[in-house]
Amino acid sequence: MATHKLSLMAGDGIGPEVIAEVTKLVRWIEARGLASFAIEEDLVGGAAYDDHGEAISDAAMERALASDAVMFGSVGGPKWDAVPYSKRPEAGLLRLRKDLGLFANLRPAICYPALADASSLKRELVDGLDLLIVRELTGGVYFGEPKEVVTLENGDKRAVDTQLYTTPEIDRIARVAFELAKLRGKKVASAEKRNVMKTGVLWHEVVSRIQKESYPDIQLEHVLADNCAMQLVRRPKQYDVIVTDNLFGDILSDVAAMLTGSLGMLPSASLGAEDPATGKRKAMYEPVHGSAPDIAGRGVANPIATIASFGMALKYSLGLSDLADSLDGAIADVLASGLRTADVATRGQNAVGTSEMGDAVIAALEKRLA
Ligand code: NAD
Ligand code: IPM
Ligand code: MN
Repeated sequence: MATHKLSLMAGDGIGPEVIAEVTKLVRWIEARGLASFAIEEDLVGGAAYDDHGEAISDAAMERALASDAVMFGSVGGPKWDAVPYSKRPEAGLLRLRKDLGLFANLRPAICYPALADASSLKRELVDGLDLLIVRELTGGVYFGEPKEVVTLENGDKRAVDTQLYTTPEIDRIARVAFELAKLRGKKVASAEKRNVMKTGVLWHEVVSRIQKESYPDIQLEHVLADNCAMQLVRRPKQYDVIVTDNLFGDILSDVAAMLTGSLGMLPSASLGAEDPATGKRKAMYEPVHGSAPDIAGRGVANPIATIASFGMALKYSLGLSDLADSLDGAIADVLASGLRTADVATRGQNAVGTSEMGDAVIAALEKRLA
């Protein structure tokens, strides 16, 4: 049996609480003889800064680069508000994305039938929702240069971020979106703001060309990103795959999260380009949510986003698609049984904690595989 190299980076706040549930699951999978793992654990974010003054060490980066998959919890929190920008907890996450070349961020928003009443929208708008946001992750305003705050002669300050995209960057993320749409509803909506942004004009041009040249059977719609945000809360089921840039993807995926009931439900996979020699790609898996300082340390966070992110790792990096499907099924079973963490509990439901939810998913998986 192949041993999968898994790098665990729990991070800050609720990160370690939700990653603990993945560790439990990994141990259970091993005990069941389904797969074997070599696990490396590293500090990232504020925890790494407190330990050695950087948001991620070079040694941790090396281990991440050598792993089959990185499982990432979350970073950040008010404790590090005054830390210089380049050492902030979030800088560790951005370095991982950039140095691993993880340009394609897949954020599926699925509303489990049992949770349709936990969404802030009416049940009929979200019941059966299954959309996928494909977010460009290593370009755009997150990484464009210059990025600085300059003090002017008169003492005023000028801050600049640069939104920058090249043709190849748009080309490769568009292809990821079209390829995934082929396996789903065969529809892509491309969201940009070509009415005010040059990057939007280029985005529109490149995505249109790729569709014409290589994906004539996929239906392509162009939508302005602000309208897309509105459509997501108006009639979200009109969408299948949404492809968009780094910043719009960040915002639209938090909107999409609430359609599923909670930010604590949304998993993600961040993938690099396939190495033609090995067929492998670098990959990191993380919940879409952050470190949730308001609930950290209380053992009440919803671990499903992180467990489902591990499911995406099983599927996209570890060649264990059947197990991934069973895990998704186990999550649906647990929710159907009425078990809820506080974020998705509706009136009259008693909420369980992070660890109980993790245990319940494992028990449901055990049943499915029996
Ligand atoms: P957040 O995602 O941490 O929290 C937003 C709200 O959602 C909070 O009320 C929180 O309690 C709730 N929430 C989030 N995850 C939950 C879960 N699993 N279960 C139950 N409730 C959950 O966003 P924020 O408060 O804006 O940011 C806090 C910190 O996290 C910031 O430092 C930010 O930079 C960082 N952040 C990190 C990541 C990441 O590491 N990938 C992502 C987003 C934000
Ligand atoms: C996310 C987060 C990150 C982002 C932050 C923490 C850098 O919000 O993964 O959605 O903006 O990409
Ligand atoms: Mn975000």
